[in-house]
Amino acid sequence: MSNVIVSPSILSADFANLERDIKRVEQAGADWLHIDVMDGHFVPNITIGVPVTASIKRITELPLDVHLMIENPEKYVEPFVNAGADILTFHYEAVLPDKVQQLIEYIKSFGIKAGMSIKPKTQVEEIAKYLSMPDMLLIMTVEPGFGGQKFMPDCAEKIKSVREIAPDIIIQVDGGINAETGKICKNFGANSLVAGNYIYKSTDISRAIKFLKD
Ligand code: DX5
Ligand code: ZN
Repeated sequence: MSNVIVSPSILSADFANLERDIKRVEQAGADWLHIDVMDGHFVPNITIGVPVTASIKRITELPLDVHLMIENPEKYVEPFVNAGADILTFHYEAVLPDKVQQLIEYIKSFGIKAGMSIKPKTQVEEIAKYLSMPDMLLIMTVEPGFGGQKFMPDCAEKIKSVREIAPDIIIQVDGGINAETGKICKNFGANSLVAGNYIYKSTDISRAIKFLKD
């Protein structure tokens, strides 16, 4: 059994057929469901919010892996917990450094997993002191905001240093992940892969998920 957590990003699904597209990845062996929340401020795009997340919770058994690309993430922790988030990830860049620990503890206080994410320009040295706190570090391998972008190999290099500092943390990568770039990330020590386009544009979704797990 592979211990890689595959989290399909529904940003690449057909929003008019969201239930169908979620069931597809659920039946094809997905481990989590990645929900990209964007506010038009932290990133230039606007996507899914609390009501859609709550509706998704009612139609799937998959743990909801909610990626907040928003300003003031602390304001939305409770609403997303109530909507059914199982893993809640905020962006380090959206929080004042002296509030990071408090936010992680706040998320964990609801009994769910806390994730912290870093954009391509944020270096590991800057966040090293926080790595003992979250359950997961999400290393963006594209600039957050849109699906279907090209994988940035330099970002994947960060995985190695994070793995050395935090042997037990979940390291997730997100952006331009396919069988090939996923393998690079796994070799560096990543154990959770988010993929939108690669999974949803594939003609055989089960096979695509299997390739990511292998
Ligand atoms: C980008 C999002 C990603 C996106 C990935 O800001 O965080 O989750 O959906 O899409 P792909 O896999 O197509 O790069
Ligand atoms: Zn994402």
